[in-house]
Amino acid sequence: MQVRENEQGGLRMTPRAMRRLAVRATELLVDRISGLQEAKTWDGEFRDGLEKQLGGPPPEGSRPAEEVLEQVVRDVLPYAARLDHPRFFGFVPSSPTWPGVLADFLAAGFNINSCTWLVSSGTSQLELVVVDWMRIWIGYPKGAGGLLTSGGSTASVEALVAAREAAGHPDRPAVYMSDQSHSALKRAALIAGVRRENIRLVHTGDDFRMDMAELRRLVAEDRANGLRPLAVCANAGSASTGSIDPLGAMAEFCAREGIWLHVDAAYGGFALVTEDGRELLDGIEKADSVGMDAHKWFFQPYEAGALMVKDTRHLESAFAIGHDVLQDTVWGANHPNFADRGQQLSRAARALKIWMSVQTFGMARFRAAVQNGLDLARRAEEYVESSPMLELMAPVSMGVVCFRVNPAGSGYDEQALQEVNRKVLVRVFWDELAFFSSTSLKGAFSLRICILNHTTTWKDVRKTLDSVVRLGQDALAEE
Ligand SMILES: Cc1ncc(COP(=O)(O)O)c(C=O)c1O
Repeated sequence: MQVRENEQGGLRMTPRAMRRLAVRATELLVDRISGLQEAKTWDGEFRDGLEKQLGGPPPEGSRPAEEVLEQVVRDVLPYAARLDHPRFFGFVPSSPTWPGVLADFLAAGFNINSCTWLVSSGTSQLELVVVDWMRIWIGYPKGAGGLLTSGGSTASVEALVAAREAAGHPDRPAVYMSDQSHSALKRAALIAGVRRENIRLVHTGDDFRMDMAELRRLVAEDRANGLRPLAVCANAGSASTGSIDPLGAMAEFCAREGIWLHVDAAYGGFALVTEDGRELLDGIEKADSVGMDAHKWFFQPYEAGALMVKDTRHLESAFAIGHDVLQDTVWGANHPNFADRGQQLSRAARALKIWMSVQTFGMARFRAAVQNGLDLARRAEEYVESSPMLELMAPVSMGVVCFRVNPAGSGYDEQALQEVNRKVLVRVFWDELAFFSSTSLKGAFSLRICILNHTTTWKDVRKTLDSVVRLGQDALAEE
């Protein structure tokens, strides 16, 4: 077979070709990121269309690497939500910093497997450092720790598996969470062996926070029926409204009852680096475990989650299982093997991106970037409250604003309001000005914007809200 000019034979490339390709990839990325403000917020294609371009068997022969690179950047990667666009407010956006992006590139190039101290002591040390920063932000005592995970879903599974271990693998476990909790927690409970009917969804009040009286009642009822309450899961930034459960009261209750308290702070957790967030999340330090994702509100590329536990021994007793072939990797107590704290053996070097970007910009800038989301959400709340066209649907919390078009005194019923607001959502989407999504708040359709991007300005938020008002007026006129 003919060896191309840029290949050394086999699967290797010449150093010159490697450099040329990386420079081209960098140029394409820098163009993309610096052009986001003018770009669409979303692009997508039906499967039929994509299959035509991208289907087919693997080629037997080689192709020029530049051609493959250009094809991917033209035909694959653009068909995605621009989650880092300054006017992308849907779901939970993310806006990675450039040092974070490069850290993933470097980790791949250095071929790091952050499984054990022996295999990668450098990034294991960084993981200790980054996990210790998080320990301090949470307010955990010295000795608490954790590990970096793929995200909130994995952190939830690992937390509930640790809770099960700490409880001694009870026969009929039950887990409690609010009716606002993320599907990831329900899935985690199922994986941890909790039967579907024993995943108790505790009611929330008008503020979407867990009703403590209902939690107490359910736990007492379950105990009387022979179930074993395993864990209570609190929200510290629920997905729909950003609500924060009464963390202090839940911690007190769980301590009294001997139940593990896990806090799902997947996107809200990094608010801890600000004074406002610290106050809002008071009590989080009393939880047995906390999940928080740096790929959400700490400006890292996917995947960068974390599970923090007050007592790391629970993680190690749940997950550390030796294998003959790994016997050389035991370096002693001061040298944790992060693979012993969770599900993965081969692990990406996630600490590198967090460490590099914090070293580069410093915490003052990170703090300001998180505060930006909190402040913009408050300004959006003022906008909604002062608009005769809009109605606030939930208290604004953790960068999330839930609202809908509902002119004061209009007298529209829920069905009509849902139709109008669905139209607004779809029209904003097709206008390509902004992207946001909706949620259902105890059955009521609500528009929802989540403002976490460090490049978003008030102009971006105002433009989006102005377009909701304008398109809302049009939709109402058609009713
Ligand atoms: C509150 C909350 N919990 C859990 C998750 C799941 O996290 P991940 O997608 O990182 O697995 C999310 C995701 O957005 C979330 O917002």
